[in-house]
Amino acid sequence: MLDVNKIREDFPILKRKINGKPLIYFDNTATSQKPIQVINAIKEFYEQHNANIHRGLHTCSQEASELYEEAHDKVAKFIGASGREEIIFVRNASEALNLIAFSWGLNNLKPGDEVITTIMEHHSNIVPWYLIAQKNKIKIKFVNITDEGILRYDQFEKMITDKTKVISVVHMSNVLGTINDIEKISKLAHEHDALFIVDGAQSVPHLPVNVKSLDIDFLAFSGHKMLGPTGIGVLYGKEDFLQKMPPFLGGGDMIKSVKCSLDGICDITWNELPWKFEAGTPNIAGGIGLGVAVDYLEKLGMENVRKHEIDITQYALKRLEEIEDVSFFGPRDINVRGGIIPFLKEGMSPHEIAILLDTFGIAVRSGFHCAQPLHLRLGLNRGTARASFYIYNTKEEVDVFIDVLKKIKV
Ligand SMILES: Cc1ncc(COP(=O)(O)O)c(C=O)c1O
Repeated sequence: MLDVNKIREDFPILKRKINGKPLIYFDNTATSQKPIQVINAIKEFYEQHNANIHRGLHTCSQEASELYEEAHDKVAKFIGASGREEIIFVRNASEALNLIAFSWGLNNLKPGDEVITTIMEHHSNIVPWYLIAQKNKIKIKFVNITDEGILRYDQFEKMITDKTKVISVVHMSNVLGTINDIEKISKLAHEHDALFIVDGAQSVPHLPVNVKSLDIDFLAFSGHKMLGPTGIGVLYGKEDFLQKMPPFLGGGDMIKSVKCSLDGICDITWNELPWKFEAGTPNIAGGIGLGVAVDYLEKLGMENVRKHEIDITQYALKRLEEIEDVSFFGPRDINVRGGIIPFLKEGMSPHEIAILLDTFGIAVRSGFHCAQPLHLRLGLNRGTARASFYIYNTKEEVDVFIDVLKKIKV
């Protein structure tokens, strides 16, 4: 198990008071807090090594390049990828999913082809496919969920046809916390020669994820939800696919050579992976910060992170049952649920709940959480309030949350 009190010492923001009360940060699904190790790594980069990468022969440029490249290696090891060539640094999970849709999807999907996704997706795994559907006239099919928020696995089999080219699924729902059976869907996808894409924005920060054992073709996730800085995210892709895909963005560093004649004929060769997909000056400090965040999580052990979240989530679900006018959603089986709890209190809108909790120093999110189709499917037409936990949250914080939730009213 995690030594939560020791962990809390590493997070300066947790010493803050909000409205005179200690900050209780339960908005971890939106973004996590950052440990001092990550903050210091970014500071040290700017104080000691700052230079552009890959283009300089001077010491600082060499150091910056090495640190930035090493961060790719750390991420590769963290998710069980073969090496840095399979790890593309992007801005966030949204950009990673757009990269797949626009580089692979746009160039491989033909009119009538089908993409299967689910009704529990974040908008980031719906809108890029919608954009491709508008251009290439493909069809998007949504697998439904049960009222408890479990995927209707039986529907995949029924929906797959010989036109199914992609199955793209969220690993952990950012609303219900549902952990989907990725191994099962991966097998199905590959039995039907479909590309298998996983949105790991919520799973990679909270559970062990291994792209090899789960046989994932592409995995998208964000650094800022796993202790890293904002503005850095990851697209993992099997090397074979990445080699064959055209670049998503063009510019400096993603080419080996550019030869153009004055009459407009260009001969361009792409750089090797992963740089072919990292056009222009990247978020160097952000990438290095993400590498340190990965070190931090590795040291804790992802199995322990998961165990801690099972413990606190089970406790919070049990305590929420005490409050008669509060309802909450998502699977009751903790084996298929992460540390995310959407809830409502009678007579209050989700925004009213969030605003009132904030007056007690408690940070939760409210609204549709970028998953409006899921909310509408469950008849939650005004959205939900959402509490979500991470490595530094305690049962004592849950107790304060429950006490406050009992007494707030409009
Ligand atoms: C499941 C899921 N996918 C994708 C995203 C998008 O992440 P980002 O906003 O970092 O691109 C989020 C963000 O909350 C998410 O929870």
